[in-house]
Amino acid sequence: MNEQVPITPEVLVPRLGDQLVEMGLLTQEQLKQALKYQAGQGQLGKPCLIGQALMELGFLDRAVLDRAITEQIIRLRSALVKANHNLEERVQQRTADLQEALRQLSQLNQLKGNFIANISHELRTPLTHVRGYLELLHTEALGELNDDQKKSLEVSLRSTGRLQNLIDDLILFSLASRGELSLQLKPVDLNQLISPIMTRSNPKAVDRGIVLNLELESSLPPVQADDEKLGWVLSQLLDNAIKFTPTGGVVILRVLRNENMVMLNICDTGIGIAPEKIKEIFEPFHQLDGSATRRYGGAGLGLALVRQIVEAHGSLVSVVSTPDQGTTFSFPLLLAVPKTYQQE
Ligand SMILES: Nc1ncnc2c1ncn2[C@@H]1O[C@H](COP(=O)(O)OP(=O)(O)O)[C@@H](O)[C@H]1O
Ligand SMILES: [Mg+2]
Repeated sequence: MNEQVPITPEVLVPRLGDQLVEMGLLTQEQLKQALKYQAGQGQLGKPCLIGQALMELGFLDRAVLDRAITEQIIRLRSALVKANHNLEERVQQRTADLQEALRQLSQLNQLKGNFIANISHELRTPLTHVRGYLELLHTEALGELNDDQKKSLEVSLRSTGRLQNLIDDLILFSLASRGELSLQLKPVDLNQLISPIMTRSNPKAVDRGIVLNLELESSLPPVQADDEKLGWVLSQLLDNAIKFTPTGGVVILRVLRNENMVMLNICDTGIGIAPEKIKEIFEPFHQLDGSATRRYGGAGLGLALVRQIVEAHGSLVSVVSTPDQGTTFSFPLLLAVPKTYQQE
């Protein structure tokens, strides 16, 4: 149990005896005697403070003691004021250091943004030339090709296609991170938009032995969206679903009408995502498993952009996933014309 010690000047000022010796008001010998007396009084059940002991032994009178204590308090107070001042100075210094670090960080971020924007534009131009000439060669416009030559060109074309996609993603990403992602919203017929996307994604699914299904109402009213960007989002989500689903699995693009909205769901029976990792997958350049990444490819940009584009539509992407069972990404879009104005 803590016994309450009364707050007296003697308690607040530590080592009063030493202070008195230092001030020449007491000899070392007298202090020793006083401490011994204090201890003795304590043993007799009459505890006393050192100042009291000094007075009772007649070494000091009350006035001298009070003066010494006052001086002690003044010293302590000025030490406190100084410490406070030092502390304030250090806080100010640290704050300035932090502000400088923040400034450098945002400068670096800006540089990174510029770097990505510049480098992707610089890469795009030569790549367009390479692709153009490869296509020219492939169509045999520059001379006949044997089968091996044709196959080599096809591999090269596929690789340039992948590079081009990556560069396009980087450009989109740098636009989005500079807040320059602009949408051209208009009524979009989902049947028309989705059909070529399914056609493009199907060979990838077939390649991996995955069934790709579309579940879409035929008389769906148009949604309010940027068709190009929405198409890109759906392709990315389907790409991921196919990429992260083992052979024998199923990927479904399900489009359901819900009041004055349309819900787009991309479901797979793939490897799934641990609940604590779901936040991470939307970070740019982030992939959950480095080894899987090497196996599956990709730059970890897709979902970061998917989220930005969907959010630019005023919507939100949600993810439901169970490891080893599958994942569903979904987001709603508003109908172009509210339900109440439509002829049912
Ligand atoms: N359908 C999915 N199933 C399991 N994991 C997924 C799925 N979609 C995305 N992920 C995880 O999220 C990460 C980020 O995805 P994304 O941004 O599209 O990058 P990338 O496709 O280039 O790897 C992926 O590397 C993967 O770990
Ligand atoms: Mg991806």
